[in-house]
Amino acid sequence: MKRQYRHGMRPSARRHREPHPKRTAVTLRYKVALAGELQPGESKKFLLPIRGTDEECFLINYQGQFHAYVNRCRHVPMAMDWVDNQFFAEEDRYLMCQTHNAYYQPDSGECIAGPPGTCGKFLYRVPLELVDGVIYATPPDEQFDDG
Ligand code: FES
Repeated sequence: MKRQYRHGMRPSARRHREPHPKRTAVTLRYKVALAGELQPGESKKFLLPIRGTDEECFLINYQGQFHAYVNRCRHVPMAMDWVDNQFFAEEDRYLMCQTHNAYYQPDSGECIAGPPGTCGKFLYRVPLELVDGVIYATPPDEQFDDG
């Protein structure tokens, strides 16, 4: 005798299925330098994929601490180093955009002097991790609000 299934359902289709495992967000990090590469007052540029675009970023050693920012001035969204990889100014106390001389605090990325409308804005920080002497960068979540 042939079995009848309601609505054409076959036993395999009625089988209870386990819920899909929750997808966990995978955050990629990128090796950008060895900690010993940069002395205080030195910088290194690198590319980092941010929302599908390779963005130029830069790593600095400021008084023994590493920081990284997107190479994008907050006055006009353009690279800050007119002279390649030259970010520090004033005896390495500040970062400076060479186009119109906006000055930024190296440890916070805050603009403290420069063209009107720029002061008080922050460079876009790139999160860093230091693991076994290797510096890794993670693409920032922060949206760029300057076009
Ligand atoms: S583009 Fe950087 S100060 Fe104007």
